[in-house]
Amino acid sequence: MPAHFITFEGGEGVGKTTQISLLAERLKSELGVESVMTREPGGSARAEQLRELILSGAAEQYGPFAEAVLFNMARADHIAELIAPSLKAGKTVICDRFMDSTRVYQGVSGDLPSDIVLGLEQVAVGKTIPDLTLVLDIDAKTAMERAGARRGSEEADRFEKEALDIQAARRRAFRKLPETYPDRCVLINARGKEAAVSERVWKAVSERLYPDTAAIVPDAMAQLDQAVAELVSTEAES
Ligand code: TYD
Repeated sequence: MPAHFITFEGGEGVGKTTQISLLAERLKSELGVESVMTREPGGSARAEQLRELILSGAAEQYGPFAEAVLFNMARADHIAELIAPSLKAGKTVICDRFMDSTRVYQGVSGDLPSDIVLGLEQVAVGKTIPDLTLVLDIDAKTAMERAGARRGSEEADRFEKEALDIQAARRRAFRKLPETYPDRCVLINARGKEAAVSERVWKAVSERLYPDTAAIVPDAMAQLDQAVAELVSTEAES
């Protein structure tokens, strides 16, 4: 099986972390695919240090350009230390947020001009573009309630504190990704039970990245159904 680079994107509280674990389990159990789960900002020792700096709000005073630079510094290190070596070693990588988060958070809601966002991205990411990006989508109000419930009594981070209208603008920007990049991005309805969302994720992953398997599984199921039906009718006859 080839190694793939899969990213999950979406606003706060859309359930990315849970869906990443469920996908990793299913890749292993159904296809024997080992995956490396990671996240941004972070994923390598130096990038985790930058995560602290950014999410504490300490970098906010320097403005959106500095924040975008820091996210990309962290990303470049993450790619060099973990993502690229894992892919090279034949392991599939599943990353919680990646370059699209910078486009949306710093570009759309942070008001940074898109040529700067894309220029920084080009330097940091180069050719390490995801094979598949799953954009988890849920209305901003439900997502904020979920993020609040998940956080409990912990204080909201720099980006979680922002108002509902900004969250809604981000949602619109995330929803545009699959329209603009239909070959790379798939919109996943993240409403409903975890298991139902996980099915939607699996459908997208198997159809896009493992098309042979996606075709084989329903076929195998149909053959099994037929075999059972034949067995039952033979037993009924005897
Ligand atoms: P995190 O606690 O990982 O949030 P979540 O569970 O919602 O992914 O915090 C990451 C925060 O950083 C999140 O609010 C989005 C923001 N972010 C950016 O603004 N730009 C970026 O490039 C990335 C990767 C994250």
